[in-house]
Amino acid sequence: MKTYQDYINHCKKIADLQYSISVLNWDQEVNMPPKSAERRAQQISTLAGIAHKISTDKEFGKLLHALSKKKLSDEKKRNINESLKEYSKSTKYTTEFVQLLSKTISESFIAWQKAKEKDDFSIFAPKLKELVKLKREECNLLGYKHHPYDAMLDIYEPNSTVKDLDILFKDVRQHLVPFVKQIAKANQHNDSLMHNYFEKDKQLAFTEILLAQMGYDFKAGRQDVSTHPFTTNFSSTDVRVTTRVNENNLSEIIWSSIHEGGHALYEQGLKDENYGLPAGNYLSLGIHESQSRIWENNVGRSIFFWNYNFKKLQNEFHSNLGHVTVEDFYKAINIVKPSFIRTSADELTYHFHVMIRYEIEKDLLSGKIEVEDLPKIWNKKYKEYLGIDVPSDSFGVLQDIHWSHGSFGYFPTYSIGSFYAAQFFNQAKKEINQLEHKIEIGNLKPLLEWLREKIHIHGKLFAADELCEKITSEKLNFKHFLNYAKKKYSKIYNLKP
Ligand code: CO
Repeated sequence: MKTYQDYINHCKKIADLQYSISVLNWDQEVNMPPKSAERRAQQISTLAGIAHKISTDKEFGKLLHALSKKKLSDEKKRNINESLKEYSKSTKYTTEFVQLLSKTISESFIAWQKAKEKDDFSIFAPKLKELVKLKREECNLLGYKHHPYDAMLDIYEPNSTVKDLDILFKDVRQHLVPFVKQIAKANQHNDSLMHNYFEKDKQLAFTEILLAQMGYDFKAGRQDVSTHPFTTNFSSTDVRVTTRVNENNLSEIIWSSIHEGGHALYEQGLKDENYGLPAGNYLSLGIHESQSRIWENNVGRSIFFWNYNFKKLQNEFHSNLGHVTVEDFYKAINIVKPSFIRTSADELTYHFHVMIRYEIEKDLLSGKIEVEDLPKIWNKKYKEYLGIDVPSDSFGVLQDIHWSHGSFGYFPTYSIGSFYAAQFFNQAKKEINQLEHKIEIGNLKPLLEWLREKIHIHGKLFAADELCEKITSEKLNFKHFLNYAKKKYSKIYNLKP
């Protein structure tokens, strides 16, 4: 391996393997018969081993180092730097550490499932303790400048640090918590209209109309049903979404499909010619989430979107919604109410769930708190920020799968994504003539084209804060989300400024 072309070929090979694993994973979630579970795990593990071997190949490392010293175009240089970062990271792990971590994660996951079912944190605690110990080691292995948690954050949102996130969540605490308390004192709305019987096939057909309207290319993707909605891609020419259907709650499918559709539009918008290269890969999880949230919240939960789409929904479900006005529907889909479970939270209290996990993970990895303390700390924070008493651990500290998977540092990307979304949408409104009116007549194309040009086509060619500054002339700023939230919900809840 000597040339830049050799580098491209090697990257493509790695991508071929990783995307093949993704096909197997997708099939496992969507189609696979239960008896196949063990063999499938074996097949995936074999391919993952080969992929890891090729991506940590010493010759490849030498090539990356050699090319990083050569004179190359900006784009090529950026590709090499990103690949080198990735390569250096993966060579920091010893085989023993990777195997021990993977084994501990499998055991933790089983313990967590049991603990959740029995509603008993003490079943999960010993395994979680082992896992946290390994994660603390991993922070040291990867290295950090100021706070051990920075090493974890960097895995999901490169360059994000405790220092920046402390500022961001301080804003959430100071401004969003009191605003939600103000909403709680106002007249409350009712969403019982969402909880009737809605036929599954009709629900699916309706969301396909929405996806097509957003610009999702069904010739380069498909929608299926799974327990936990997700988006996966095997290139930008095959990007698949899954959604969740509940025949007694219309909300689930609508927000799942639009959210995953937003993720998918990002993947479909990456340049196919950059397949396997950093330039053809998504920037960060926060930016990925910004693309799902902008469609889900800024577009999908707006009155403009439903001024166009509510008639179609009414036609599908006439006996349920024939008598409902679009204003009442709009209020029903935008109810703000503190609740226990993050995944079904509204777009404001959602961030309190994330903030609580951020605060806990940060202290857990620095050793300021220990696993035994988690339920007590968890419940205290829910009382403080959401004003609710957690009835039991399965509604509290045991609710999410993330910790049992060893995913510490992941949660903040959910909030970062929503805040980027508000900032990008605000900018789009300035640059696209009468954007909201266009949404109101079902013309979503200008917004998608704007996102393509500003974000999608660049892949990893810029860092997230660089890209944000390039688009909006400033770094991530919570005030855009706060302004959006205050304007929208003051109107919905008839609040005085
Ligand atoms: Co998402």
